[in-house]
Amino acid sequence: MTKMTVIGCGYLGAVHAACMARSGHEVIGIDVDAPKVESLLAGKAPFYEPGFEDVLVEALESGRLTFTTDLGAVKGSTVHFVCVGTPQRAGENAADMTYVDAAVNGLAPHLSPGDLVVGKSTVPVGTAARLASIVSAHQSTALLAWNPEFLREGFAVQDTLSPDRLVYGLPPAPHAEVAKAMLDEVYAQPLAAGTPLVTTDYATAELVKAAANSFLATKISFINAMAEVCEAAGADVAQLADAIGHDVRIGRRFLNAGLGFGGGCLSKDIRAFMARAGELGADQALAFLREIDSINMRRRVRMVDLAREVCGGSIVGRHIAVLGAAFKPNSDDIRDSPALNVAAQMQLQGATVTVTDPEALANARRVWPNLHYADTAMQAAAGADLVLLLTEWEEYRTIDPDELATVVAGRRMLDGRNALEPTQWRNAGWTYRALGRP
Ligand code: UGA
Repeated sequence: MTKMTVIGCGYLGAVHAACMARSGHEVIGIDVDAPKVESLLAGKAPFYEPGFEDVLVEALESGRLTFTTDLGAVKGSTVHFVCVGTPQRAGENAADMTYVDAAVNGLAPHLSPGDLVVGKSTVPVGTAARLASIVSAHQSTALLAWNPEFLREGFAVQDTLSPDRLVYGLPPAPHAEVAKAMLDEVYAQPLAAGTPLVTTDYATAELVKAAANSFLATKISFINAMAEVCEAAGADVAQLADAIGHDVRIGRRFLNAGLGFGGGCLSKDIRAFMARAGELGADQALAFLREIDSINMRRRVRMVDLAREVCGGSIVGRHIAVLGAAFKPNSDDIRDSPALNVAAQMQLQGATVTVTDPEALANARRVWPNLHYADTAMQAAAGADLVLLLTEWEEYRTIDPDELATVVAGRRMLDGRNALEPTQWRNAGWTYRALGRP
């Protein structure tokens, strides 16, 4: 059993803290946001994440988990996870390191001899080495390790309890063994279950995370580039993805063509990676990521163009229903949401847009107050000339075209996620269009 703190209780930190307590460790979650700490202490998740609240409540009841705003609470714990955010810097591609720097500078004076600071935030390569010197300047026997996180929103609990790999970026010898032993105790459960472990130096561990998200973004933009060609050639990108996906070297996962990626990670991470490579003089190596980003952004423009096309050349004055506001299903996260981006563009171009989502409406309302909102798909679609499916929640995938037809003004469906069965909709009298399909 390890006594640990988790600094930063957002998505990553809160889930990590609760899952570590569930694994038998004693955990103190620390965050500067007092209402968030109150909510977590009361067993209420501050965000929507399937299964998280159950783990949180169970961990609180076990007595092994607590939360506070007081950084001084780190005394008595030996391992300190840094899980704060690294958003995109305003007006630049680079990551904003303010929160990571504040966390480590705040933590360092409270460290005890032999403590281990573990970075989990996604950071530019070189950060760990810089932070290690801050740590050792305050406490000469304290160590730092880099342990990137690969959890997906919507599967955060599962990905934290049973990760598909663990990566330790360890300090140079002779300290590597000590840090590794401490991390092995923290991750005793997944290691015993056979989770692959890769131990590296700091820089490699930092780059693993950037490379993984860049590869995922590339896979999505690759298939979306194929969708553009399919549109030009009258071919079907969904069939194409199925066919190439059978090659195990390619694989079918993350080859879903559509509106592309959004969220708090992929876009900002590839941009920060390009910015950092530029600083290192390796910008040419990542020039392709600029194209990945452009392909992704083009899908949003294309979606609006398609809406105009099926409305006979103009969306001015048209009533449009948008199904989905979250950046992906099973999340209430609307950061860089492709769905809301398209909804807002259509509204700005003169349409009256009504958005619905099972979980993300409160967040959407706050950021896009000028859009209209409805609680259900049927309410959003009432009187609509056009319906767009932009986030593929299960309840939208299984919507009945005949039932929806009873409330709309015009049977026009744009499937931004290739989530519906085209023939089913066409047979029900709908004009069905999708990205990358004839
Ligand atoms: C992503 C990575 O998948 C995680 O491994 C990583 O830990 C995380 O970022 C992070 O850096 O914290 P996440 O942002 O939760 O996770 O979401 P993804 O499941 O990767 O989806 C990202 C976007 O890609 C969504 O908008 C989704 O709709 C889109 N997507 C995904 C597609 O357009 N097509 C696909 O085939 C798959």
